[in-house]
Amino acid sequence: MGRYFDMATIAFNYKNHDSWGKIGWLGTSEYYEFWGSVFAKDLTDFFKGNVILDIGAGNGRVWHEALNLGLLVKQLHLIDPALDVVPELALKSEIFLYKKTLENLQSIHCDIIVFKQSIHHLHERMGLGMFDALPGKTFVNFSMPANPDWPMSPELKKKFELSYLNVRDIVKNTGKKVKDSFLYSYPVETNRINWCLMLEQRFTSILHDCDDDFISREVAWANNNLPDTLGFFDHLECVIFE
Ligand SMILES: C[S@@+](CC[C@H](N)C(=O)[O-])C[C@H]1O[C@@H](n2cnc3c(N)ncnc32)[C@H](O)[C@@H]1O
Repeated sequence: MGRYFDMATIAFNYKNHDSWGKIGWLGTSEYYEFWGSVFAKDLTDFFKGNVILDIGAGNGRVWHEALNLGLLVKQLHLIDPALDVVPELALKSEIFLYKKTLENLQSIHCDIIVFKQSIHHLHERMGLGMFDALPGKTFVNFSMPANPDWPMSPELKKKFELSYLNVRDIVKNTGKKVKDSFLYSYPVETNRINWCLMLEQRFTSILHDCDDDFISREVAWANNNLPDTLGFFDHLECVIFE
């Protein structure tokens, strides 16, 4: 039977992370089926039979899909201060849930550590010191590439470039080595109205600290420059390092 550990109140801005995985294509079952299949099929050799720690696991829906597709793990530890997993996942015996930040986690022995679109948060708070708290040997990281396909204005693109965290630099600076890398591309089909709603809800971390004027300018840019229907790829690079 899976269980939650440590529900203590922690200093963390939940508001900023609440919308993740709920808006636009990020909230659809197709999106989680896509990533569940990547985890269960493409990356099965890394995950199968191992003790895995996912840091910044969000709603855990990717793992839920992966386990439903037959991925067998020894233990799966999910940590996120905004953790909010479906009951079916929480009830599985191999699942351990920690509703807290990594900074508040006691060391867990694990084989594989996963970050999916979360390493920048840890780097911002802990720098390379995050690796002191991480006992695993193999790291599987998913981050957006330097040139995303998202329909961004020049102003937002600039902001993205300034805040871009190059995971390969982190690997180099820690003396670790890249073992493998893959590019995954989720085909997004949406429309301008939905994109504007996502912007208004600051769906991604680069928008979290933007004031209302910035968001209004971005929405106006989208309304003036984007077609009614939108198709683009949501690319994520998977870098595996040890
Ligand atoms: C962009 S979301 C990704 C969620 C999930 N990995 C996914 O791809 O669906 C980033 C997550 O990192 C979590 N996070 C932020 N700071 C964290 C910290 N210090 N320790 C653990 N998780 C953190 C946030 O709460 C958020 O759920």
